[in-house]
Amino acid sequence: MKRTILAALLALLAGGALAPRPAQSLELVYPADKTYFLRSDFLIIKGGAAPPLEAIAVEINGAKSEPIDISAADYKAAFGDFLILQPDFDPGKNAIKLEGYAGGKQVAAAAAQVWYLDGDPTALPPAGYAPFVMHLPQKEKLCAPCHNMSPGQAELAAETEGANPCASCHKRMLAKKYVHGPAGVYKCAYCHDPASQPSRYRVRAHDAVLCNECHLDKVKKFNTSKFVHGPVGAGLCSVCHDPHASDQPAQLLAHANAICLGCHDQVDKAVHVVRGVGGKAHPLKDVPDPSNPGRMLTCASCHDPHGGQGNYFFARGLTGRFALCQLCHVK
Ligand code: HEC
Ligand code: HEC
Ligand code: HEC
Ligand code: HEC
Ligand code: HEC
Ligand code: HEC
Ligand code: HEC
Ligand code: HEC
Repeated sequence: MKRTILAALLALLAGGALAPRPAQSLELVYPADKTYFLRSDFLIIKGGAAPPLEAIAVEINGAKSEPIDISAADYKAAFGDFLILQPDFDPGKNAIKLEGYAGGKQVAAAAAQVWYLDGDPTALPPAGYAPFVMHLPQKEKLCAPCHNMSPGQAELAAETEGANPCASCHKRMLAKKYVHGPAGVYKCAYCHDPASQPSRYRVRAHDAVLCNECHLDKVKKFNTSKFVHGPVGAGLCSVCHDPHASDQPAQLLAHANAICLGCHDQVDKAVHVVRGVGGKAHPLKDVPDPSNPGRMLTCASCHDPHGGQGNYFFARGLTGRFALCQLCHVK
């Protein structure tokens, strides 16, 4: 009898100590539960003050880390109860589980389901996921003790990584091979309105309306082209270009051919350029482009992606098929 009560009491005590604490002692700040997002730059976790967590373990789609120690004094001094990791999300759905440890025991837990768009701004998540929004007052409040969350005009105009207030968190998105002019000099606030409501830094305008403010030479060219390419005519610059940076020339969202074939998949299924039966297919990529020293052949070697003087928008305003061949086949 006595032993049973003792056992029950022990179980109760153990249960009390091991049971996950309320969610606020361990919080997934980014990406938040049931949201979708474009980038896999970060995983931002906030541990609670009571109890102060000593370690946090992270599991993403079944792949689990060892508990990550956040108890060192110099760590606490710099980052407080935050843990920022660079995750490796799977495209699409990611189930995230967090475990918080103190005194060698698990004392907190949190879980979230999020949707990763894998860098494609034109992709859409299934129902049930809302866009992640960071720059709301209640979230910015969490960061304000260490980051400048209310920069003034002069600070926003600072053009270097060391001085610009956006850089302390966003420098990673510019760590790519091709960086867009104004993003590279941190003119973030030219396009992102610091006073927008309800969240800050929404874009002032979208696509061509925004892009054409600076790319006047392009506007002039579009206006004097006999044929304007479908998506360009519709003003959809962002179907092909990233406004910040990418590893492709002209900050393309992907390799040019992959973008083009996304809408023109028939081109890959038929013989292109060369006519007749039994001939070798004309290369469309992976060989040097004789008309552009130092560049590789792409769809854009032969077609101006924005428009042109003939219905197929041949490069350099050419209209004749033969003139096009001669760009590269001079003999
Ligand atoms: C206790 C202080 C502290 C708090 C609070 C804090 N941070 Fe930080 N954070 C830092 C320090 C220190 C760095 C490193 C700064 C550097 O490298 O320039 C940093 C860097 C970052 C980075 C860049 C990481 C990288 O490797 O590029 C991001 C993103 C970030 N913090 C987001 C946040 C967000 C979002 C919040 C609020 C939800 C927040 N932080 C709250 C101290 C803090
Ligand atoms: C404390 C860190 C931090 C600072 C400082 C910061 N951001 Fe962010 N911001 C984030 C995080 C984290 C996200 C969500 C992850 C992402 O999109 O990279 C985000 C998202 C955004 C978004 C997407 C919309 C949204 O609200 O989620 C925009 C636009 C943006 N930031 C612009 C800016 C600009 C412009 C500045 C400088 C004036 C700035 N941010 C400063 C951390 C920060
Ligand atoms: C040439 C204009 C332009 C500049 C300059 C610019 N952005 Fe953006 N940014 C955009 C547009 C357009 C979007 C897409 C917004 C949308 O779809 O609502 C965007 C989206 C974002 C997003 C959310 C989506 C994503 O790509 O992660 C973040 C974060 C962001 N910008 C941060 C920044 C930061 C930080 C800077 C400065 C280093 C900056 N931007 C400079 C135009 C710009
Ligand atoms: C604030 C002015 C400004 C805005 C707004 C702007 N750009 Fe730019 N863009 C520039 C500058 C400056 C350069 C660098 C020019 C250079 O290097 O010759 C540039 C370069 C580019 C390039 C690369 C040029 C090359 O030769 O590789 C592309 C592509 C581009 N912008 C597209 C866009 C798109 C798409 C938008 C809208 C989302 C946009 N730009 C909005 C100023 C702007
Ligand atoms: C169908 C995809 C597509 C669309 C839509 C598109 N572009 Fe481009 N753009 C490209 C490609 C591909 C290149 C690179 C061409 C090359 O490799 O030389 C390019 C290059 C550029 C360049 C730099 C080189 C040059 O031609 O001067 C600028 C600037 C530019 N685009 C601006 C814009 C603007 C502004 C819009 C929207 C009005 C836009 N683009 C819409 C595909 C596109
Ligand atoms: C977002 C979808 C989209 C993307 C991406 C796209 N196009 Fe197009 N393209 C269109 C539309 C819409 C038309 C006009 C309708 C038509 O004539 O088929 C068109 C027309 C064309 C034409 C003229 C076709 C004809 O029969 O007259 C060519 C050539 C062309 N695109 C080449 C390209 C190249 C090269 C790329 C990549 C740089 C590209 N497209 C990317 C949608 C797209
Ligand atoms: C070596 C030059 C060259 C390259 C590279 C090239 N094209 Fe073409 N393309 C042509 C020519 C020439 C035509 C005109 C049709 C004809 O004469 O057979 C054409 C026609 C087209 C058309 C309209 C007719 C059709 O087949 O639908 C589209 C769309 C098109 N190309 C898209 C693309 C895409 C997408 C790529 C890259 C995957 C590409 N082209 C690469 C030369 C080229
Ligand atoms: C932008 C450059 C470019 C243009 C324009 C172009 N080609 Fe080509 N073409 C190439 C390249 C690069 C190769 C591959 C050469 C190699 O492998 O050495 C090639 C190969 C060929 C081959 C195969 C030859 C062989 O040696 O096997 C034929 C046939 C051909 N092209 C015909 C055409 C015709 C017809 C046109 C015009 C409608 C044309 N090309 C336009 C770049 C171009």
